[in-house]
Amino acid sequence: IGEVQSKEVVTLTNRDVQLRRAAENEILKQKETVESDPYRQKYHHMPPVGLMNDPNGLIQWKGTYHFFYQWMPFETAHGAKFWGHYTSNDLIHWKHENIALTPSEVFDQGGVYSGSAVIHNDQLHLFYTGNIDGEQKPETEYQCLAISEDGVTFEKKGIVIETPAGYTAHFRDPKVWKEDQIWYMVVGAQSEDLQGNVLLFSSNDLRNWVMVGPIAGSKQGGLGEFGCMWECPDLFELDGKDLLIVCPQGLEADGMNYANTYQSGYFAGELNKEEGKFSHGHFQELDRGFEFYAPQTMIDEKGRRLLVGWMGVPDQYEQAHPTVENHWIHCMTIPRELKWDGKKIIQAPVPELKEMRGPVLMHSSVTIKNDQKAVRGVQGRAIELNLEFDELEDQFAIELFQYASLSYKDDVLTLSRPHLEDKSKTEFRRVLLDRDLKNLRLFIDHSSLEVFVNEGEEVFTSRIYPQPNEEHILFTSLGATTFSVEKWGLSGYQYR
Ligand code: FRU
Repeated sequence: IGEVQSKEVVTLTNRDVQLRRAAENEILKQKETVESDPYRQKYHHMPPVGLMNDPNGLIQWKGTYHFFYQWMPFETAHGAKFWGHYTSNDLIHWKHENIALTPSEVFDQGGVYSGSAVIHNDQLHLFYTGNIDGEQKPETEYQCLAISEDGVTFEKKGIVIETPAGYTAHFRDPKVWKEDQIWYMVVGAQSEDLQGNVLLFSSNDLRNWVMVGPIAGSKQGGLGEFGCMWECPDLFELDGKDLLIVCPQGLEADGMNYANTYQSGYFAGELNKEEGKFSHGHFQELDRGFEFYAPQTMIDEKGRRLLVGWMGVPDQYEQAHPTVENHWIHCMTIPRELKWDGKKIIQAPVPELKEMRGPVLMHSSVTIKNDQKAVRGVQGRAIELNLEFDELEDQFAIELFQYASLSYKDDVLTLSRPHLEDKSKTEFRRVLLDRDLKNLRLFIDHSSLEVFVNEGEEVFTSRIYPQPNEEHILFTSLGATTFSVEKWGLSGYQYR
């Protein structure tokens, strides 16, 4: 595990130029088709063409938020990823910057995979995984570094960490942070006995890294078999607790839990950085919806711990998203602020999103008794709804367009929608709430729904594909339900 190997970096600058041109041409070629799609969103980051996946390199530097993302410009499928790049000063007005990184070099030609950003010596440092896809050589993954003086152009410095002995080629997604003048990095890794792990590294200079050890993983720390690969680890302290967010692959569905193909959640515990030990409790899912994966967090200049997730899951149903026919797929969640309440992570949409609101429409004390009703004005496609329940008898549901339904019964909240592939079937995601349902906050966009339950104790994130002109929302109650509802039209993100 070694030093920077900058001497050995083969710079294929021509290839970088060619890849940039090819991607920019693809954007132009498909622009009209992509933009004609009725499912384009108003306030969620989307790829200009092709496939978007993980948020990468989230950071605020000199006031500017930088959000990078995994991007495949040439297909609505996975492949040799680029890093796309958005910037903003307020999380509402965004600029789509030039492509940050292309898979141009020998060590990343299979994809500039996920990673993170830190500031050092007044330079933006991006750590990412260089993937070699196995077509020309055996598959390998390295942790690599790229540096920027201006925040928009990046110079690759090459490999900083090679796969340690005892681990397979699944070795990716470096997340770096600084504590007490020491740099730390967590990386997802598969051990040779095919178990998912998180490895901790440390460094004094961001160039020379030493492996501290595996700090958590399947069959460790009291866990049984818990996934064959752990992707996208993120470790941070929040309100006095050390939290390890990670995406284990290969968990079996278990009642209401682990219903998606791959999971995304966290362990709360204590990290001993010197000994490389993380003692932790059980795994808790971060989100209960159909599409949520590979989240990343950052601490911003206000000291907030913000999280953005990928509104997608890598699985066999990806091609069933209807946007594929218009040459794009997937988007990001809205940014959420995290808090630790002593037991779980609480997630709230960042307050900046209120800037998008138009005038409020409000009804207090709406009562529905054994009936299904629309509530005047409570409809639309780029909207926010806030519901506070005064009285709630056992069965209550919100029908969103003729597509999704959010229903509550026996303390269980269920989101259902037509199965993406086989529309004759309905699919469900569920959660048992810790306490009575008091509050629901819904962010609806042209093709997505994010539901924050009881001030963010649970969240459901999903794509929805109602008919493009549908705006109708219906409320159903068996027994009597009384609630107040506020509704705002949302103007959306502004791009320049
Ligand atoms: C998660 C992931 C990461 C990888 C990236 C490649 O969705 O599989 O582990 O770095 O996507 O795009």
